[in-house]
Amino acid sequence: MKLLVVVLVLLFCPHHGVEAAGGEFIGISGLHFVLNGNPFFANGFNAYWLMTLASDPSQRDKVSSALSDASSHELSVARTWAFSDGGSNALQYSPGSYNEQTFQGLDFVVSEAGKYGIRLILSLVNSYDNYGGRKQYVQWARDQGHEIGSEDEFFTDPVVKGYFKDHTVLTRVNNITGVAYKDDPTVFAWELMNEPRCPSDLSGKSIQDWITEMAAYLKSIDSNHLLEAGLEGFYGESSPQKQANPGFQVGTDFITNNQIPGIDFATLHSYPDQWLPNSDDQSQLAFLNNWLDVHIEDARDVLRKPLLVTEFGKSSKDPGFSSEQRDAMFGAVYSKIYSSASSGGATAGSCFWQLMAQGMDSYRDGYEVVLSEAPSTTRIITVQSRQLRYLGRLRAGERNIAKLKKAKAMREKQLKAPHKGKGAGN
Ligand SMILES: *[C@@H]1O[C@H](CO)[C@@H](O)[C@H](O)[C@H]1NC(C)=O
Repeated sequence: MKLLVVVLVLLFCPHHGVEAAGGEFIGISGLHFVLNGNPFFANGFNAYWLMTLASDPSQRDKVSSALSDASSHELSVARTWAFSDGGSNALQYSPGSYNEQTFQGLDFVVSEAGKYGIRLILSLVNSYDNYGGRKQYVQWARDQGHEIGSEDEFFTDPVVKGYFKDHTVLTRVNNITGVAYKDDPTVFAWELMNEPRCPSDLSGKSIQDWITEMAAYLKSIDSNHLLEAGLEGFYGESSPQKQANPGFQVGTDFITNNQIPGIDFATLHSYPDQWLPNSDDQSQLAFLNNWLDVHIEDARDVLRKPLLVTEFGKSSKDPGFSSEQRDAMFGAVYSKIYSSASSGGATAGSCFWQLMAQGMDSYRDGYEVVLSEAPSTTRIITVQSRQLRYLGRLRAGERNIAKLKKAKAMREKQLKAPHKGKGAGN
């Protein structure tokens, strides 16, 4: 029987190595992402810089080499910025107005990702000031004479909300492939915002209402793709789970925000080095393990939606940093994910922060992983990619065996049924 399983798995899953993205959209069935009806598990990475480099023709080779490198280590999902608001080389230099060259940079990213079988999570705006963010949106409204208090009004001011709705990435027709982003299966999911935070409204109402409105709006334009909110995973002020937070929270609520219709899956970020800066590495690792456990459990039992760990990493700038510490952290995250995924839980994979190509020294933030320069971390990443991919094939194989058994049982039933006669068996 064991041999039969192996043979069938090989028989029905003929793709070894890279599977081109394209074809089908990623969907959801119960707790799982699915592709062509089979569970889809993802080992992935962040590379926020892809569009920025791709919009400079002399830097494009770094985008191709990062994606090619990632693909050869069987990484299959990349999370990246589809925003750059205001300032030089902006994607959107004023509300609804775009720099074509930067947009063609994003076109290149989407086209290359498709070529290398990597699906993209595209984030639509930043909560922080980098690349514009909600501060820039609020400033645009002020420039038009609207009176706006703090940048937290990004979430509530009708003019600013209108600007966000007008950020037309979804309907962009890719100048290289000719396919509209909203029709392109290379896109894994849209992300409303990178790490929404609203410190002036810890009740969570501002962000809850904003996600509700924007999720419905985006779904009205694009029902092909999955959507997530970009949350870090903080529990709300009133949530009984709040003790899992690192001693503060940010105006979001992991439970109620992710229960909003239109939010297809939950996301989780984890930075114990930043969140608990006065704790030692062991305490930070203990926090991480608990942070993962409670969210993995809540995704399965309360949300009943898939969970993707969309950011985690370890900075070489942390005091006392060693690559063993980073490997221990990657190992801890990966083993929690694998154990949930392989036991039918809701956790489907992760994207580490962050992948870089060689020759990008000015982009280094301490968290960067250049695969060719970090052999031990690269080994851990590759093993996770293979294990998740194998798990996907195994589940697909089991599904095919179940189908075959069902077909066989039906055939036997038909053969045994005497009154059906000759016509039944063909
Ligand atoms: C790309 O842009 C050029 C110039 O705007 C246009 O003529 C061409 O049709 C576009 N190509 C595709 C595939 O959309």
